Amino acid sequence: MDSRTLIETMPKAELHLHIEGTLEPEMMFALAKRNGISLRYDSVESIRKAYDFGSLQDFLDLYYEGMSVLITRQDFFDLTFAYLEKMNAQNVRHVEIFFDPQAHTGRGISFDTVLSGIIDAFDRARSDFGISAKLILCFLRHLPEEEAFVTLKQACRCKDHIFAVGLDSSEKGHPPSKFERVFREAREQGFVPVAHAGEEGPAAYVCEAIDLLQVQRIDHGNRALEDPALVARIARQQIPMTVCPLSNRRLQVTPDLKKHPLRAMLNAGLLVTVNSDDPSYFGGYINDNFIAIQEALDLNQSELLALGRNSFIASFLSDAEKRAALDVFDRFAASV
Ligand code: HPA
Ligand code: ZN
Repeated sequence: MDSRTLIETMPKAELHLHIEGTLEPEMMFALAKRNGISLRYDSVESIRKAYDFGSLQDFLDLYYEGMSVLITRQDFFDLTFAYLEKMNAQNVRHVEIFFDPQAHTGRGISFDTVLSGIIDAFDRARSDFGISAKLILCFLRHLPEEEAFVTLKQACRCKDHIFAVGLDSSEKGHPPSKFERVFREAREQGFVPVAHAGEEGPAAYVCEAIDLLQVQRIDHGNRALEDPALVARIARQQIPMTVCPLSNRRLQVTPDLKKHPLRAMLNAGLLVTVNSDDPSYFGGYINDNFIAIQEALDLNQSELLALGRNSFIASFLSDAEKRAALDVFDRFAASV
């Protein structure tokens, strides 16, 4: 089986995906029209042309602007269901999705509107496609911790629907330590902690995420490789890392994918997975990320299968669900 066919047919999970980052320019236009909002772009092509980012902040500015077209429960349903339909076609069997409630409540959209639209789509995808889904609420790290506490209070009313809490947005200058108290409260309330760390920020932020936030997964984590003692620790504890190759290229974290650290991470014994982050903005969904990194690093079949298997091991599925998913995966692996 050639690499592309293997990637496309392999059962897999996606663990690093911002639902607002799946907003395709076509849908942005359609929702702007439906909601009577005017955009500063006159065509889909002109939007795509603007996706030429020099840094994480360049991207975030457009990302927050783009999501201003999301107003109603139906909008959040349409956004989420469109993503899950694509995942069904890409043989993704399980997803763990980030959402940024503060980016919506901050412009007058209620927490319940956002959450109910997303959960409606999860329910529909489970029944239509058999895809399972978990939701991760991200605190925006450029905002004060007090505002994260307000958001956590809203999440506590909806524990049945929100599994984990994460930390995203502008990393530099906003270390995990800024959110130590709200993460402690979130853990006490039963939410599993994860955080973006070491995307643009230093290895020390990854240490803080582990020590202070007690994260059970590191989102990105690229710059952890600058600290060998930290790498050894992450490998020993098998703390999963959610790597996003096309994001790293588009945000200039690793402008040349041939120099991407993914193979070094695998060789160091890290539990790494491949994900798409914000696929509409970064040029591809999960299978495109697998294909791009396979071509850049010439990953072989056993490396691709290890990455696919890791996606289930690194997930927050229950032990029984993991065993069932890995059974299916191992039967696939034996057939290639
Ligand atoms: N990094 C940090 N924050 C984000 C990202 C990202 O790649 N995508 C959406 N919010
Ligand atoms: Zn991300």
